[in-house]
Amino acid sequence: MTTDNTIIHADCITAMGELAPHSVDFVLTDPPYIVDYRSRDGRTVANDDNAQWLRPAFAHIHRVLKPASFCVSFYAWNRVHLFMAAWREAEFRPVGHIVFRKRYASSARFLRYEHEVAYLLAKGDVTPPAQPLSDVIEFRYTGNRLHPTQKPTAALAPLISTFCPAGGLVLDPFAGSGSTLVAAQQLGRRFLGFEIDAQHHRTAAARLAPLSAAA
Ligand SMILES: C[S@@+](CC[C@H](N)C(=O)[O-])C[C@H]1O[C@@H](n2cnc3c(N)ncnc32)[C@H](O)[C@@H]1O
Repeated sequence: MTTDNTIIHADCITAMGELAPHSVDFVLTDPPYIVDYRSRDGRTVANDDNAQWLRPAFAHIHRVLKPASFCVSFYAWNRVHLFMAAWREAEFRPVGHIVFRKRYASSARFLRYEHEVAYLLAKGDVTPPAQPLSDVIEFRYTGNRLHPTQKPTAALAPLISTFCPAGGLVLDPFAGSGSTLVAAQQLGRRFLGFEIDAQHHRTAAARLAPLSAAA
């Protein structure tokens, strides 16, 4: 399998099984939140209605990461027990927690929900960065035009700069519209993404193509 600078239309559980162990420098991913998500305009996210993929996915992510490396994973605050169990079972160690501050509410009920969250997970005996990043990162609204849960590349970029060495390989197994991969490419990192939905795969491939041509 070609693993450099590509987005592959595949189920990441199967696809990661074909990757060599210790072949990835950094994983930055935004998996389904397991909340049966439906956007205001009726769009859904594949596998957001079940947790069957969760443990196998993070077992593979841990296996393909190099020794002493990091994974940043978004998750849903009200499903933290499921995600934390999967991360610990895969032998990840939480070493930080990131709040992405929104200037708008995704929804409002008991509170106005105005942030996203992610854990910084360590594999093995990691070295802290020379210049630690703030654990609060600004999250600009993307308009979700390319994907119902599209993440802004500007919020992802500092994580890649800090936790992936120059020229290293960034993996996003749940790539969606390719936001992680775009940010990785803009920062001169190699990138690999998997996406199960054919339409999102096409969107990500189209987003990356002009950048690849310019490189
Ligand atoms: C939360 S979205 C990611 C959105 C992305 N961060 C963006 O900015 O566009 C999660 C994505 O994972 C995909 N997905 C779900 N299960 C998958 C699987 N087993 N393998 C690969 N992709 C999967 C969904 O289709 C969805 O696009």
